[in-house]
Amino acid sequence: MGMMTEYKRILVTSALPYANGPIHLGHLAGAYLPADIYVRYQRLKKRDVVYICGSDEHGVPITIAAEKKGVSPQEIVDEFHTRNKAAFAKFGMSFDYYGRTSSPVHHRTSQEIFTALHDKGVFIRKSEQQLYDAKVKMFLPDRYVKGECPHCGFGEAYGDQCEKCGSSLSPTELLNPISALTGEKPQLRETEHWYIPLGKLQKQVEEWIATRQGWKANVIGQVKSWLKDGLADRAVTRDLNWGVAVPLPDAEGKVLYVWFDAPIGYISATKEWALQKGDADLWKKYWQNDDTKLVHFIGKDNIVFHCIMFPAMLMAHGNYVLPDNVPANEFLNLEGNKLSTSKNYAVWLEDYAGKFEIDPLRYYLAATAPESKDSDFVWQEYLTRNNSELADILGNFINRTLAFANKQFADKVPVRGDVDALDRDMLETIAQAADKIGAAIETYEFRKALTLFMNVARAANKYFNDQEPWKTVSEKPAKCATTLNICLHACNALAVLMAPFLPFSAVKAWAMMGHETDVHKQAWDDVSHMELQAGYKLGRTEILFRKMEEKEIEPEIARLKTIQAPGSQPPVAEAATETKISLEDLARVQLRVATVVAAEKVEKADKLLKLDIKMGAEQRQIVAGIALTYSPEALIGKKIIVVANLQPAKIRGIESNGMLLAAQDDQGNLSLLGLDRDVNDGAPIR
Ligand code: 2FM
Ligand code: ZN
Repeated sequence: MGMMTEYKRILVTSALPYANGPIHLGHLAGAYLPADIYVRYQRLKKRDVVYICGSDEHGVPITIAAEKKGVSPQEIVDEFHTRNKAAFAKFGMSFDYYGRTSSPVHHRTSQEIFTALHDKGVFIRKSEQQLYDAKVKMFLPDRYVKGECPHCGFGEAYGDQCEKCGSSLSPTELLNPISALTGEKPQLRETEHWYIPLGKLQKQVEEWIATRQGWKANVIGQVKSWLKDGLADRAVTRDLNWGVAVPLPDAEGKVLYVWFDAPIGYISATKEWALQKGDADLWKKYWQNDDTKLVHFIGKDNIVFHCIMFPAMLMAHGNYVLPDNVPANEFLNLEGNKLSTSKNYAVWLEDYAGKFEIDPLRYYLAATAPESKDSDFVWQEYLTRNNSELADILGNFINRTLAFANKQFADKVPVRGDVDALDRDMLETIAQAADKIGAAIETYEFRKALTLFMNVARAANKYFNDQEPWKTVSEKPAKCATTLNICLHACNALAVLMAPFLPFSAVKAWAMMGHETDVHKQAWDDVSHMELQAGYKLGRTEILFRKMEEKEIEPEIARLKTIQAPGSQPPVAEAATETKISLEDLARVQLRVATVVAAEKVEKADKLLKLDIKMGAEQRQIVAGIALTYSPEALIGKKIIVVANLQPAKIRGIESNGMLLAAQDDQGNLSLLGLDRDVNDGAPIR
């Protein structure tokens, strides 16, 4: 269905996290917080919305974690299912149901869908050579094998993926594979599996993708590049003893591939939600009626599964809705480095919740969400945003308004008299706020939505300053009353508008306004015209956002620094706006004009182009991440600016000797730097 369809209900899912470890900020920013903001907003819009999540408890990630700890897979998933569910609750993730894929309903549902596809003759049964560890008498699927990536040469690639270059792999593609269990060199052995023929289904997937509207550029770019490379058939079964048993008589010792059963977890969790509501068939309305808007929130590493494989499974089945949108996020880094669970280089939700307030984190993460490109969590910025935005603008406005009303109007809403131009502007800003912020949320632009929200608070704070009620209170009491009436009106609106982003503070602010109702049950559409009657009694005031001190975050920064021990990657340089460099520093960077003489796409890398460039007499090759914006043809003959003395590096195994300069904005729009008059290539820039 396209965007024009009148949807009757919304089904929102967040990726089911593996129950093999705790949840960190990167998870939260990618697939959970945006979904929670979206869902909270939809509830305020009074739409029929169900929000589903749960634990992904199968697959090699779980069994490997169990082996490492020397416990059973069941013990691992029991522990982390409970811990992660509780951690999400602390951060206000408002799931309607948090399931787990070890549940009987899930096993049954996955088997039913497998059987339905099998009976329709969808699968291909193939016998193939697979890697086998003779020492432990076990096949080695996915992460049970490590080796060299055939694309980028990275030595620690896994059997299912190279984390260096992002390529998706199969174990037999690895060069010099070794068993992750024993370190032995694996043998090849014949085994039989069921494959979903994605090659055959590709056309159908493509036609469906072509009907999608409003998808993010990063998502559609990745999907198109998979489709362009041609989809390969994928095994949906594995030789493992942990998972959903393959429901066929001749499939002893085989389970469903975790990426076959995990997304079905969304369906089974919805079934369990329906059961809990006492209406066992209720799930069908959400999954099997075309007027359901299904939205999957995920991180970018899950795109292929949610945009290609799961839809292909459901299409082949024929009886399920497909996603209207999959607003996948890029990755969040931490203090300039990639998060790493194994190095403990992360901020864990459980740990954070024991030390700090929740809403400031939600605020900072929503403000810096990796919506169109990777972004960076920086403790210092978190503190600054809390102090100079939440405390100094939003909190300050609400607290000073209530303090003033308390002192001058005995905690009652004063009468609104004649309005002047400033009053009218402020009232207009309040009247338009809900629609503007809502429109950004509807299109998954959460950063923009938050900015629009803060702009209302900014405008209100300025309005308070400009009207100077502390002066008019004695000189023009009627005007002062009007100002305060409008400020209180703004506080009331802000309390509801903040609810999707800052759910805990919204509850406080709403109570401070004297309401005994639940702020999360208000109507978004009422915000534009909610009135507080003159004489209405306000509630008890407390500080909405506390200012934080440097010393609170210092231990966090120090801890991360100790993990970046020598040998790990150096921290990425801070943004240029924050670090001042000397003229000598600048002179070390040699920029030159170059002409592109040849350009071609890099195989299996949707963003990369390989360019041959000429700088005077010298020719060299560079690799640049500009393929989503520039076609190779369009570049030939073009003059560009390159950093000529950058250390050569290998990108996807291809030598890159220099770097071209391009500008990139928050939306990911790219523009190459060029010249506004012609000069010969090789010319230095100084
Ligand atoms: O990447 C992961 O953490 C997976 N466990 C996500 C699964 S999403 C869904 F399909 F269940
Ligand atoms: Zn690689």
